[in-house]
Amino acid sequence: MLAPQTVQSDTTLSRDDMALVAKLVYEHAGIVIREHKEAMARGRLARRVKVLGLGSIAEYCAYLRTASAVDEIPELINAVTTNHTAFFRERHHFDHLRKDVLPRLIQERAGRRGRIRIWSAACSSGEEPYSAAAISRDVIGHRSDLDFKILATDIDTDILDRAASGQYPTEQFDRLPADLRPLLKLEGQNGRGEARIAEELKRLIAFKRLNLIENWPMKGPFDVIFCRNVFIYFDTPTKAAILDRYVALLQPGGFLYLGHSESLPQPHPQLRLIGRTIYERTP
Ligand SMILES: C[S@@+](CC[C@H](N)C(=O)[O-])C[C@H]1O[C@@H](n2cnc3c(N)ncnc32)[C@H](O)[C@@H]1O
Repeated sequence: MLAPQTVQSDTTLSRDDMALVAKLVYEHAGIVIREHKEAMARGRLARRVKVLGLGSIAEYCAYLRTASAVDEIPELINAVTTNHTAFFRERHHFDHLRKDVLPRLIQERAGRRGRIRIWSAACSSGEEPYSAAAISRDVIGHRSDLDFKILATDIDTDILDRAASGQYPTEQFDRLPADLRPLLKLEGQNGRGEARIAEELKRLIAFKRLNLIENWPMKGPFDVIFCRNVFIYFDTPTKAAILDRYVALLQPGGFLYLGHSESLPQPHPQLRLIGRTIYERTP
């Protein structure tokens, strides 16, 4: 049994309030807040309490129990999501895209404005789709006989705004391997020490809010789906349901990339493991 925890008097989180937050976050985002993550949840709720000018987490939770809290739910979700990401994170996926996916697609589809579609399904602050755009631009070049686009979605509206801005602290780029940095085609540094991703890469990406546990408006098909480091927050039934929908949207011969610590919730008859966290959709 977990005892109520107190960091400062106003951030005390009672068991009932934790249960309420966990229930709302699960119902609205599918995210399971595990017991060892309670301290993190408390810190994030405390930030929301401050923004709203409330006196305590208890007061915030009392507000969440009222009917008018419906507008607060997206803010609650924004507050509890973990957005950690990086450019070219888990590089083997981008190497696979460069060497094994794009050359074949170009061969199949160039010449008749064939479509190539990539979906970054929990794109966070955008490093993942910008990395995919950078690799794709490098391989495809400026040819006009292909219709190439990346859909980048996330549930968190705050992080999507950051993603769409395409501006990042320059230290993020300084840490990149020398062969990858130029691919992002960075434009001028602003007064806040940030550099901007080039317009020609931004144009390849559409950023949209999408909750993976709700309806999806897209029809697909996608050639590649990045679903990395988000399944870790979901339980098995949620993962299994989302996976079925990925398979339905994936082109036969298309690929699903999962995060380094993730695997399929159960074997899927139409997904074949062909490399490190790389699954191919079978016909
Ligand atoms: C740890 S980040 C992963 C970012 C990137 N895919 C990567 O691997 O670097 C997890 C992202 O999943 C998003 N997320 C969590 N629940 C979601 C849901 N139900 N629908 C869509 N996105 C969700 C979070 O907002 C967060 O930005």
